[in-house]
Amino acid sequence: MDITYHGHSAVSIKTATHKILIDPFITGNSLSDLDPNTVEADVILLTHGHNDHVGDTMAIAERTDAQIVALNELAVYLGQKGLNAHGMNIGGAYDFDFGRVKYTQAFHSSSYEEEDGTFIYTGMPGGILLTIDDKTIYHLGDTSLFSDLKLIGEMNDIDLAFVPIGDNFTMGPEDALIACDWIQASSVVPVHYNTFPVIEQDPKAFTDKLATGKGLPLQAGESITL
Ligand code: NI
Ligand code: MN
Repeated sequence: MDITYHGHSAVSIKTATHKILIDPFITGNSLSDLDPNTVEADVILLTHGHNDHVGDTMAIAERTDAQIVALNELAVYLGQKGLNAHGMNIGGAYDFDFGRVKYTQAFHSSSYEEEDGTFIYTGMPGGILLTIDDKTIYHLGDTSLFSDLKLIGEMNDIDLAFVPIGDNFTMGPEDALIACDWIQASSVVPVHYNTFPVIEQDPKAFTDKLATGKGLPLQAGESITL
């Protein structure tokens, strides 16, 4: 499968059969290389309800009929908008036709802000363990460092991890280095940095310090094959 980073926390995965988007924040994401009007998707996976993760999900799903997978309250909310959304919750896994999704915990918050400023409660934030063809990708979502990352690393053979390093809203680089030691992923892509002034970081400085895993400081639009 081919995996591409699109700036912030947005990732796309192209398998032999499916086009999968994770957290497709495109409009308002100055780093994005995607066009929300043409991006293709069969599936959209969401880590939590914040607007910099739900992003363009509604417009993309309306245009493409993509299936959305999200934490339950967010899935119900998107379902009420007429979209096809499958709700899950922390610790639960489900075998979809595109692969297996398991939600992990994430220490963060989760709500969706509508255009008029109304905040919608969207349940717990999560991380996503996605297993396709015996390869496991772990998108940590937005989170602080938490010690159960060690357990998640012990329980899963993680091939590739997307790890937030921006600080301010999530782990910063120092805590993210500890997280990477615990999750023991073969490869690590830093995410959630340089989109906003308060989360400016040097991704290469981070990956140079990694003790565990191969660091891949991808630019938006860069792909790797797994
Ligand atoms: Ni967030
Ligand atoms: Mn975020």
